[in-house]
Amino acid sequence: MTPLDTPLTTHAGIEVPLICGAMYPCSNPELVAAASKAGAIGIVQPISLTYVHGHEFREGLRLIARLTNKPVGMNALIEMSSKRYHERMVEWVSIALEEGVRFFVTSLGNPRWVCDRVHAVGGHVYHDVTERKWALKGRDAGVDGLIAVNRRAGGHAGPKSAEALYAELADLGLPLVCAGGIGSESVFVAALRMGYAGAQLGTRFIATLECRASAVYKQAILDADEDDIVLSERITGVPVAVINTPYIQRMGLKAGRFARWMLRGHKTKHWMRMFYGLKSIWQLKRSSLDESGEKDYWQAGKSVSGIDRIESAGDIVRRFRDAALRSLPAASR
Ligand SMILES: Cc1cc2nc3c(=O)[nH]c(=O)nc-3n(C[C@H](O)[C@H](O)[C@H](O)COP(=O)(O)O)c2cc1C
Repeated sequence: MTPLDTPLTTHAGIEVPLICGAMYPCSNPELVAAASKAGAIGIVQPISLTYVHGHEFREGLRLIARLTNKPVGMNALIEMSSKRYHERMVEWVSIALEEGVRFFVTSLGNPRWVCDRVHAVGGHVYHDVTERKWALKGRDAGVDGLIAVNRRAGGHAGPKSAEALYAELADLGLPLVCAGGIGSESVFVAALRMGYAGAQLGTRFIATLECRASAVYKQAILDADEDDIVLSERITGVPVAVINTPYIQRMGLKAGRFARWMLRGHKTKHWMRMFYGLKSIWQLKRSSLDESGEKDYWQAGKSVSGIDRIESAGDIVRRFRDAALRSLPAASR
């Protein structure tokens, strides 16, 4: 037993209860491997690995395995807006299992099929949730833990604070991981003190040496304060946290009237989501890699306020680990 052992470290087979969260388009293999190598767990985002960073899926996993022999996880976004996408996801999960991945983070949809397949080989599934009704759905599907995505998160933020979500989910009997707003080690320690079994970070890991995002994107994270983070519906049709750059200001934050009408209809909403999905996949790829900074369409959460330098992913994991070891008696977890 180390003083940092929590149900998350046991399930994921790691030393530090810290997840380098999946990020489309910012999860590149070198970043995932660096987080895992330092004792946390990096999560592979399959569309980022293949479409943005150009690796055939299995080869990408093998590249990561050459960089570290520590466990890595995989993100399965399981919304069923397209049959073809679903089939692709089933195939990616199969390949990941064949390549030895045993920790999965599911988002959206019903994670039952992922749980069935992953549990059959002794792995674990944690499910991203923003409120209790999704947590109950995840629990009924058999997930092993919940990632409580709060209102300070980058990506698709939830509506609630870390404290409110903890209170709402604590009685479900599953380990809870805090996602959102953690940019510094003091906030990480505070989340563990609250009772969370660990933390999932996204934005902090963009401003790293290993992340392939453009230098202008990383600099914008260092420069931004939490008031510079706004929620835009124009990327995916549901609110996504972005830095309020001139480009975002020009475009406005709301989905257009036609899109809103399409998103309300029972049938049309699937078409609209697919359209948004494809459009955003392309736009986010372009703006994350573009060094000119002209299309500054940059996702980030309110944790920007605690991020003041670019450093290696390993240094972040070690700094967070040391702070937790210093501040928390083993008995408090
Ligand atoms: C640029 C970016 C892209 C993201 N993409 C995904 C994704 O593809 N799948 C997912 O489950 N979560 C995604 N997230 C959410 C993160 O995994 C994580 O939960 C979140 O970033 C935590 O909040 P933080 O950014 O304040 O640390 C993304 C977050 C960011 C910042």
